[in-house]
Amino acid sequence: MNRQFSATHSRSATATSSLLIVLIVLISFLLFNKSVYCKIRLSTNSKEAKSTSTTTGGSYVPVYIMMPLDTVNNDGTLNNPTKIYNNLKQVKQVGTDGIMIDVWWGIVEGLAPKVYNFTAYTQLFTMCQQLGLKVEPVMSFHQCGTNVGDAAYIPLPKWVLQVGQNNPDIFYTDQNGHRDREYLSLGVDNVAIFPSGTPGKNRTAVDMYSDYMSSFMQTMSPFISSGVIEVIEIGLGPAGEMRYPSYQLQNNLNLSQSASQVGHADWGYAGPDDAGYYNSFPYQTGFFSENTADNYDSPYGKFFLSWYSGQLIQHGANILSRARNIFGKNIRIAGKIAGIHWWFFSSSHAAELTAGYYNNAFNDGYGAISQMFAQYDIDFEFTCMEMIDNEQPSNCACGPQELVAQTRATAWKYGLEYGGENALDIEGNYQANSQIINQSFSNGKAISGFTYLRMTDTLFAQGNFNAYAQLVSSLHNISSSKYEKVESIISSLKKQINKQ
Ligand SMILES: *[C@@H]1O[C@H](CO)[C@@H](O)[C@H](O)[C@H]1NC(C)=O
Ligand SMILES: *[C@@H]1O[C@H](CO)[C@@H](O)[C@H](O)[C@H]1NC(C)=O
Ligand SMILES: *[C@@H]1O[C@H](CO)[C@@H](O)[C@H](O)[C@H]1NC(C)=O
Ligand SMILES: *[C@@H]1O[C@H](CO)[C@@H](O)[C@H](O)[C@H]1NC(C)=O
Ligand SMILES: *[C@@H]1O[C@H](CO)[C@@H](O)[C@H](O)[C@H]1NC(C)=O
Repeated sequence: MNRQFSATHSRSATATSSLLIVLIVLISFLLFNKSVYCKIRLSTNSKEAKSTSTTTGGSYVPVYIMMPLDTVNNDGTLNNPTKIYNNLKQVKQVGTDGIMIDVWWGIVEGLAPKVYNFTAYTQLFTMCQQLGLKVEPVMSFHQCGTNVGDAAYIPLPKWVLQVGQNNPDIFYTDQNGHRDREYLSLGVDNVAIFPSGTPGKNRTAVDMYSDYMSSFMQTMSPFISSGVIEVIEIGLGPAGEMRYPSYQLQNNLNLSQSASQVGHADWGYAGPDDAGYYNSFPYQTGFFSENTADNYDSPYGKFFLSWYSGQLIQHGANILSRARNIFGKNIRIAGKIAGIHWWFFSSSHAAELTAGYYNNAFNDGYGAISQMFAQYDIDFEFTCMEMIDNEQPSNCACGPQELVAQTRATAWKYGLEYGGENALDIEGNYQANSQIINQSFSNGKAISGFTYLRMTDTLFAQGNFNAYAQLVSSLHNISSSKYEKVESIISSLKKQINKQ
């Protein structure tokens, strides 16, 4: 198979058909992904609240709870402050350390460029302060709620969407030309096409994120100096996670330059043309199969995947370096990595590759990410802490337990704090609670915090709330006797894969 592309695959001025790599996933991926859409998160760490030893020898893992998606209305008002206050009081009573809350770009800067309104957030943070709860805000630069059942719909600011009307390439685009309007493509990180409120002066996407963070810092500094806010999570992609929307990529990136640099201009026209489609199984494609020409492990495949994952890491660095400058050295900053656990037990790890994580049997993708995080002192946030391998569909080689173990070990190896979350609803689920506890302690060390997804009306039903309270108190005193080692399992499984 050669790398020549037909006219329909070549780059066009409008870039509509430039899907570079497609999602290899199962329907279950789509379901999973949608169900966590914009349940953006928490990191849970903080300089003071992060895990510490208790006097009885256990470790104290602070627990944060995610607020409902509709806590702040689209008009910028707090949604039912009395109910919020009562709910906060209840979670505080069972020992919850703090809350996580999306600070939506589409609400705060929705009116006009550089016109910010944080009023509802200030009210909420004040309530938390009065109740003795911490706050972990998330700079949420993505859209919330395009999915059935989502409690809120919060698009990007309308003046940003307007730029997209003339220039739709600001959004990720798949091979069928579908635009994904949930997050700006990393291709516009450094392209000055967005209004600044000052005629004749445009901003890049990274400028917009920076201005937003600066305004937040200015408004919220009293909560930072009083210790209510100890950690800020920075949204870096769809659902707040540093990843591609799985699996579209637009072409105003520098693939062709990079290809020329390695003496292979023919690699620079588009991504692999045999990577399947959203619901393909890896073995149905050329790119993710074993022993096929130009597959993921060929010289071409390695070139492409290094470039593709490298662009994503550079995107993270573009924003996180600004965040570190704006917020300063004395506050924890977190970035979130998606828990792409399907196809973990295959050599190529197709689903992780398409999300932008170059992690497989031959390459430690989370190491490269951790290295970038370490450069800016960023906490590593990860999810699917509650998941158990044998509860996943048996035909997609899922390995959530091993993926958590790998990312945790890698983050720690690079000296990062590692915070966990659950991915799906676990109300009243004691087995999930027990798995979370198992995953929160490894090799004599506790994770830096746990964030519970999410505060809902049904969480306060008696049985569910008891299970929640028990989880909080277990995480406040965990020790090795409660943990089952998975590191040894993962390393032996990886060895088996390498032999295949
Ligand atoms: C900010 O939003 C709140 C809630 O919608 C509103 O009452 C207030 O007037 C706004 N502030 C400014 C300066 O526009
Ligand atoms: C600003 O960006 C718009 C596209 O959104 C473009 O038409 C305009 O020429 C740019 N202006 C400057 C001064 O760069
Ligand atoms: C491509 O972009 C990346 C990230 O922006 C940059 O580090 C790299 O130098 C660029 N490569 C070329 C050939 O321009
Ligand atoms: C913490 O757990 C240990 C055993 O795992 C127990 O001995 C101790 O009493 C617990 N401490 C508290 C404060 O519950
Ligand atoms: C957690 O670890 C304990 C002790 O190793 C084990 O008995 C238990 O089954 C594990 N729980 C889950 C949900 O895997």
